[in-house]
Amino acid sequence: MSLQRTEARHWWRDAVIYQVYVRSFLDSTGDGIGDLAGVRAGLPYLKKLGVDGIWLSPFYPSPQHDHGYDVADYCDVDPTFGDLAEFDLLVTAARRLGIKVLLDIVPNHCSSEHPLFREALAAGPGSAARARFHFADGHGPDGSEPPNNWHAMFGGPAWSRVTEADGRPGQWYLHMFTPEQPDWNWRDPEVPAEFERILRFWLDRGVDGFRIDVAAGLFKHPELPDSPDPEADARTRDSVNPLAWNQPEVHDVWRQWRSICEEYTARDGHERLLVGEVSVPTAREHAQYVRHDELHQAFFFDLLSAPWDTDAFRKVISEAMQDIAGTGSTVTWVLNNHDQVRTVTRYGEPATEGSGLGAARARAAALLMLALPGAAYIYQGEELGLPEVVDLPDDVLTDPIFRRTGSRARIRDGCRVPLPWSGQASPFGFTSGVEGAKPWLPQPEWFAEHATDRALADTRSFWHLYRDGLQLRASLPQLGEGSLRWLDTPPGVLAFVRGDDLVCAVNFGTAPTPAPVSGTPLLSSGPCPAGVLPGSTAAWWINDL
Ligand code: GLC
Repeated sequence: MSLQRTEARHWWRDAVIYQVYVRSFLDSTGDGIGDLAGVRAGLPYLKKLGVDGIWLSPFYPSPQHDHGYDVADYCDVDPTFGDLAEFDLLVTAARRLGIKVLLDIVPNHCSSEHPLFREALAAGPGSAARARFHFADGHGPDGSEPPNNWHAMFGGPAWSRVTEADGRPGQWYLHMFTPEQPDWNWRDPEVPAEFERILRFWLDRGVDGFRIDVAAGLFKHPELPDSPDPEADARTRDSVNPLAWNQPEVHDVWRQWRSICEEYTARDGHERLLVGEVSVPTAREHAQYVRHDELHQAFFFDLLSAPWDTDAFRKVISEAMQDIAGTGSTVTWVLNNHDQVRTVTRYGEPATEGSGLGAARARAAALLMLALPGAAYIYQGEELGLPEVVDLPDDVLTDPIFRRTGSRARIRDGCRVPLPWSGQASPFGFTSGVEGAKPWLPQPEWFAEHATDRALADTRSFWHLYRDGLQLRASLPQLGEGSLRWLDTPPGVLAFVRGDDLVCAVNFGTAPTPAPVSGTPLLSSGPCPAGVLPGSTAAWWINDL
């Protein structure tokens, strides 16, 4: 898409952004961990794929208890990933290719190694330094019970007790994730001021926007009361304790951040983008985060959470169109990210393992997502059709969820295995130049089938499907922003029209069904003869009747 065309239409409203999980993208130093120079080396590949921008997972100095979502310094680069000079080179190279760069900013919590948290520990109860976090006395005669009954998202209580300067057990501090990630207290005026400084630091360095971690977090109920049902809050990772999330005050922060972005736009005419990770119960609540003066986008996770089922997909798409797009904002679709089981595996059924059903469905879902009105995010490796690596041995797992819950059930390492680029054996070109270099998570042998060199050479690959879809999306005015109109379809099939004549249909079943449009499709996720829509297949047609 030409720069002029996207800028004129608010480029972000239908942008396709590629999520780069930096430590697993491409390693330029041979230490087995991806880095910013690796991202720079991969830019031509992403340009060829046709994405509008990249979102970089956190690369800031961090003890890496949650792979960088525990930030010790928001305005620098961890030496593992490079330095600020390398970051500047990356931004310059991306700009030259017309690729926007978004950073991941983590405002709900920092690292327990952050200097302000260390200062708070040293300063003691009642200090201004402690007021920047949530410190509280414990319950019980000796204060040995946590201040309330909240659970942390990654297991265990949401409070940890500190040892005071005199060596005695003292106050407790709140952490909605791990104990190494203390939550900021956004009611202390120094916290918003500090984040404004951080935003400006990166905007001045030329970034195009931010992905905001846990954007429905930040504020907690002012009294920090007990939850009436703490077990329900903890049952699934995405369920939310209504006292700890989605508080009304958070919207003022997004208004403030939006106004900072607008200030930069007023200077040079180029729009910056704020995209929030917003997990809230309904599409209607979600829409509150993308009002015209708040975030530009918020990930709409309901599509990602929907099972492979016609009614489930129709319901989430209809709700998003009505409740989010219907209020004038844009829907931001996502099928994969660094926290979720990859689609190829998620849509496969154990009984059909090895049949390719998961892959066929993942391809169909991709074509569906790229045809929906709004913006879309692709997670690295999605364009290669990478399945989840489900059999990583326990001793290599790094996800704090595993350590804190003792369960493999929802661990996230399997979607974070370093990408295969070339060759027949690990490290598959992920890490270069150093003999015997080992990727930080082991790559299975079968990654060879998905390596980018093979994907690029095979026109039937996932890569070509994504590339063709992105090219058509950029050239066809029917796609991108706009509305959709559902077509009547037999059970098991979803079909809608974009513009006057672009039809997208998905067959969720396994048996072929008559296609809603005669003629050969423009693009299909699998073989699709004229007049037929095979099972587990999606296609796009121009209906020129
Ligand atoms: C978000 C991130 C996830 C991280 C968590 C805590 O959900 O996507 O990876 O662990 O926030 O920062």
